[in-house]
Amino acid sequence: MASSLINSHSSSTYGSNPVKKGEVRLNEMGSEVVEGYTCKPKDFDASRPIMHYKTLLLLCDDERCGKAGKIDKATHLRDILKDMDLNKGENRIKISRTGCYGACRYRQVCQVTENTQANGEPKNNALWLKHTHQYTDDEWRNIFKLLVDGKILVNELGDEAFIPMKVYS
Ligand code: FES
Repeated sequence: MASSLINSHSSSTYGSNPVKKGEVRLNEMGSEVVEGYTCKPKDFDASRPIMHYKTLLLLCDDERCGKAGKIDKATHLRDILKDMDLNKGENRIKISRTGCYGACRYRQVCQVTENTQANGEPKNNALWLKHTHQYTDDEWRNIFKLLVDGKILVNELGDEAFIPMKVYS
């Protein structure tokens, strides 16, 4: 196996040389480059940190949740965040798509994760918003504003906005 590994940097494959079927190539961070892709950073820096976020919204985009919304919700929300200037900086809100959480009956599910290592609000961490495909743009904007202002979402939106979670005590 090791002999078939090709270091994508040293072999000068940052150009248009995608990984072929059966080929195993590692990028500089030691991750396998996916078939059909080329690891091609603009300004290569193996130790560059990932971008800061205050809040990470994990939006389920799997079979059932994805169909609940009629639009590409993640892209749409990113556009709103850009418009609110929350796509960068210390209050950045990041949107990521996920697979099924096994909570499809509450679709479209969106987990709120706060960056408690930095400036995230711990009380908003690990909350699960439900039926988010029914939210209007104004409702999303309101949620983004509440997050930036460090408001406690449960106090502002009420329990009914969230998926209840069994807690062991
Ligand atoms: S498809 Fe979203 S929770 Fe199952």
